[in-house]
Amino acid sequence: MMVDQKFFQHLQLLVIVLLLSWRATFEHSTGMKDGIRCIEKEREALLKFKDELIDEYGRLSSWGNEKYKKDCCKWSGVSCDNQTNHIVGLDLHSPWDSELGGSTAPLRGKISIWLLEIHHLKRLDLSYNDFNYSRIPQFIGSLGRLQYLKLVGSNFIGETPHHLGNLSELNFLYLGSSNDGSLTSTNLDWLSRLHSLSDLIMVSVNLKMATDWLQTITKLNQLKSFFLLSCNPPMVLPPSHFNTSNSLSEFVLFGNEFSSSGIFPWVFNLSSSLSLLDLGSNKLHGEIPISLGNMSSLTSLYLFDNQLTGKVPCPALSSSLTDLDLSGNMFNGTITQCIGSLSKLEYLYLGSNNFEDVIAESHFFNLSQLKSLDLSFNPSISFNISVGWNPPFQLTSVDLSGCKVGPHIPAWLRTQTRLENLRISNAEISGTFPDWFWEQSPKLSRLNASHNNFQGVLTDLSSKFSNFSYTDLSFNHFNGSLPILPHNGSVLDLSNNEFSGSITNLCNKTSGYWHFLDLSNNLLSGQLSNCFANLPNLKYLNLAHNNFSGKIPSLNIHASLHLQNNSFTGKIPTSLRSCTSLTFIDLSLNKLTGKIPIWVGDTWTKLVFLSLKSNEFFGSIPSNLCHLAHLQVLDFSLNKISGGIPKCLNNLTAMIQVDSKFDGAFRLRYHGGFEGACVTWKGKRAEYIKTLKFLKLIDLSSNNLVGDIPTEITSLIMLVGLNLSRNNLSGSLPTNIEQLRSLDFLDFSRNHFFGDIPTGVSQLDRLGVLDLSYNNLSGKIPQSNHIQTFNDSVFKGNPGLCGLPLTKVCPGDESAQVPKINDNVHGMKDPDEEEDQLINIGFYISMAVGFVFGFWGVCGTLVLNNPWRIAFFKLWNSIMDWLYIKIAISKARLIEAFHKFVKF
Ligand SMILES: *[C@@H]1O[C@H](CO)[C@@H](O)[C@H](O)[C@H]1NC(C)=O
Ligand SMILES: *[C@@H]1O[C@H](CO)[C@@H](O)[C@H](O)[C@H]1NC(C)=O
Ligand SMILES: *[C@@H]1O[C@H](CO)[C@@H](O)[C@H](O)[C@H]1NC(C)=O
Ligand SMILES: *[C@@H]1O[C@H](CO)[C@@H](O)[C@H](O)[C@H]1NC(C)=O
Ligand SMILES: *[C@@H]1O[C@H](CO)[C@@H](O)[C@H](O)[C@H]1NC(C)=O
Ligand SMILES: *[C@@H]1O[C@H](CO)[C@@H](O)[C@H](O)[C@H]1NC(C)=O
Ligand SMILES: *[C@@H]1O[C@H](CO)[C@@H](O)[C@H](O)[C@H]1NC(C)=O
Ligand SMILES: *[C@@H]1O[C@H](CO)[C@@H](O)[C@H](O)[C@H]1NC(C)=O
Repeated sequence: MMVDQKFFQHLQLLVIVLLLSWRATFEHSTGMKDGIRCIEKEREALLKFKDELIDEYGRLSSWGNEKYKKDCCKWSGVSCDNQTNHIVGLDLHSPWDSELGGSTAPLRGKISIWLLEIHHLKRLDLSYNDFNYSRIPQFIGSLGRLQYLKLVGSNFIGETPHHLGNLSELNFLYLGSSNDGSLTSTNLDWLSRLHSLSDLIMVSVNLKMATDWLQTITKLNQLKSFFLLSCNPPMVLPPSHFNTSNSLSEFVLFGNEFSSSGIFPWVFNLSSSLSLLDLGSNKLHGEIPISLGNMSSLTSLYLFDNQLTGKVPCPALSSSLTDLDLSGNMFNGTITQCIGSLSKLEYLYLGSNNFEDVIAESHFFNLSQLKSLDLSFNPSISFNISVGWNPPFQLTSVDLSGCKVGPHIPAWLRTQTRLENLRISNAEISGTFPDWFWEQSPKLSRLNASHNNFQGVLTDLSSKFSNFSYTDLSFNHFNGSLPILPHNGSVLDLSNNEFSGSITNLCNKTSGYWHFLDLSNNLLSGQLSNCFANLPNLKYLNLAHNNFSGKIPSLNIHASLHLQNNSFTGKIPTSLRSCTSLTFIDLSLNKLTGKIPIWVGDTWTKLVFLSLKSNEFFGSIPSNLCHLAHLQVLDFSLNKISGGIPKCLNNLTAMIQVDSKFDGAFRLRYHGGFEGACVTWKGKRAEYIKTLKFLKLIDLSSNNLVGDIPTEITSLIMLVGLNLSRNNLSGSLPTNIEQLRSLDFLDFSRNHFFGDIPTGVSQLDRLGVLDLSYNNLSGKIPQSNHIQTFNDSVFKGNPGLCGLPLTKVCPGDESAQVPKINDNVHGMKDPDEEEDQLINIGFYISMAVGFVFGFWGVCGTLVLNNPWRIAFFKLWNSIMDWLYIKIAISKARLIEAFHKFVKF
């Protein structure tokens, strides 16, 4: 399986950044004792320091002049020495919110020089604030007693001040920019003066020019941990007498651009006391050199997400290894002999390689300590394990996704009573889920058994697990009624099965934990009554493609609502009016009726996707719909909507802006799947499973609209599709239509438009589909090479039109050529080509692909219990948000994914 390197890099980077910051935050907790009075001078200095900060969130509200606030040692973030009463610690980092995907309450403004009055300051943490792209103040280098300094994620840019090199007592330094590497350091000479430094962490600090970085390491005699994450230091040969601190135990060059030739010659010789080596997400290729064997104290080796090939040099692996992560490479050959001799292994990640092996019981004889096993996505690994096997280990985490595990669930899992995570998706398993499974794994909290052939009825699971938070059983053949589920879950995907009957079992749930519920593509039916009233925190609800009927109940959904293709009747419920944070609403293909509520434009202000397609809505389009500045897809097609097209459409600014702010792939965020959107594209209904970031579309076709096309519509320059066909529109076509330069799809057919076709049409270079048929257009069809590639059906039914590609010659053009017959005309392409074309126009489904191929493939290993990664789940949401923005994927992968997931 191919793995997207960037995806990985960013994901892991973020995890590590966050974990490091937690570590940094909690490791040195500060103690305050009652009755300690702070020193007046320092108190005043702090107040002046506060004066220059902007504290929108009241984080410094305990700092003040009032009598009851006198003791500055009790102020939040301040800690004093319990004997001298001097202020020794200032921890003003902003908390990180996983829901929000960012700092929750950043301080802004300026870092005041009054800070220097806190002479005894030892610890300073200003992370995750917003210092407005300013530089790190030089005077921080004058806080001579500083031992601990953390300035990460606070929007500092520019050159790191060399004055920090004056902090001779510093032993912990953590610098980082938000993620774009705009904080730089052109040389690290200043660092080499920090003789007490034991922990150095740099994240996204641009070190491209810092040719002395390796030399600097040799001068830091106390260095224990060295982390360069995404800093891209240049590849340099080590100085001739390369000598590192004897205490160096953790060496991390994660997410840089190191190649094997640049790093292998020296990195394995770094220090005999090294315990952690992480070269993950670099550009290492070729085979691992045998000199790996020099690192006899190595306990953790991470080489994931590179392009390493060949066999793993088993004898060279340190027998002390507890963590081994080789996932996401191209290793081949066998691995089993290796594993057998590493008796201390606890975490073994070999996923997404090309290992070829028959895994047998004997390979695990020595692995009594193993806690986490990932063999996923090695297509040539198979298993030869007897039914009665009793493994020597108790695993908490197993990932066998994408391996040939079937035909049954491995019986040995029965012995694993500590199991918390189990991934066996895509593992060719069929049959029923064994009863013992639910009994034997009381600690299971995450289960992904999707994309198998499981069948049968799932019964009451509510009492089986104490902590069942994530369940994905999608794409199987489970049937019968929905199981009763535990109260404390948060993500449930039962989509694409054969569940039938009502959803009463779920309705009986009162729980604030549930965030994500996908029951789409089943055979469920019945009314919903007040089913979801008890799930106050539901963010994503997908009931699409079932047979639910009756009115849409009162709902409280925070982000994404998919009810398409059911038989819902009645109006859009007013309860939805309170769901002000909705970004995605698909009510298409139901029997809903009534007018489009006027409040839609004023309450769903975050809306990005709105489809009411194929219902029975009537009345006119309310003009305050134009307030939906984030709207990218507006689909009212196939209704009975009358009146004119609002003139204010140019207020839909998301259709004007190149860069969309939409980051709302909630399915992705909560789960790892996709946000699906049903839109009509090129005459076919397509379920788009992608991010929609570049999809900007207005479809008002098949209604009763009258009047002309407001010229304002031509300001929507990023519009990719515009369909006004099958209405009663009239007037002439907008003259400046060439402004819609992103248009790929334009359908004005079956209206009453008259007059000339504006010449601008011939300038729409990206147009893949054009339909102007059955109007009253007249005159000569504008000529361009592009227009002539269209089929003549595009212009059919306009008796007054002449010129190519029609056979009717315009008056005065009699000598013109006979039209050529063009087989490969737009609008009549074979489906494959259409798909390609969709992609050509910038129709990216990058996240979805990144996720499917990257995450469960390899990143899944991250999720397992590993010292580094233990807190991963709590950060999951924010990471997904973040990834969303960051990932881009090659076209080849897009196409591959497209073919896999787009169902016409
Ligand atoms: C002061 O703090 C230190 C550790 O920071 C602690 O060992 C000591 O007992 C404390 N002294 C008093 C008087 O609380
Ligand atoms: C941030 O910096 C910009 C330009 O330097 C300035 O215009 C703006 O007022 C600053 N904002 C804050 C909150 O300080
Ligand atoms: C701190 O460092 C800077 C530059 O590295 C230097 O110019 C300055 O004299 C130093 N200040 C003190 C107080 O040592
Ligand atoms: C290497 O380290 C040893 C011991 O710390 C020291 O004596 C020697 O000078 C160092 N060599 C170089 C080239 O720095
Ligand atoms: C590691 O160091 C030894 C001696 O200290 C040297 O002989 C060997 O060539 C080094 N290996 C590499 C790969 O640099
Ligand atoms: C394993 O990978 C190496 C290096 O890419 C290649 O030369 C070798 O043929 C591969 N072996 C097998 C059995 O695929
Ligand atoms: C809800 O569940 C409880 C216990 O599981 C059951 O006693 C009760 O009848 C259920 N109520 C409904 C409306 O299904
Ligand atoms: C459209 O935007 C303009 C300028 O922002 C504003 O004055 C106008 O009221 C808006 N119209 C509607 C219908 O929202």
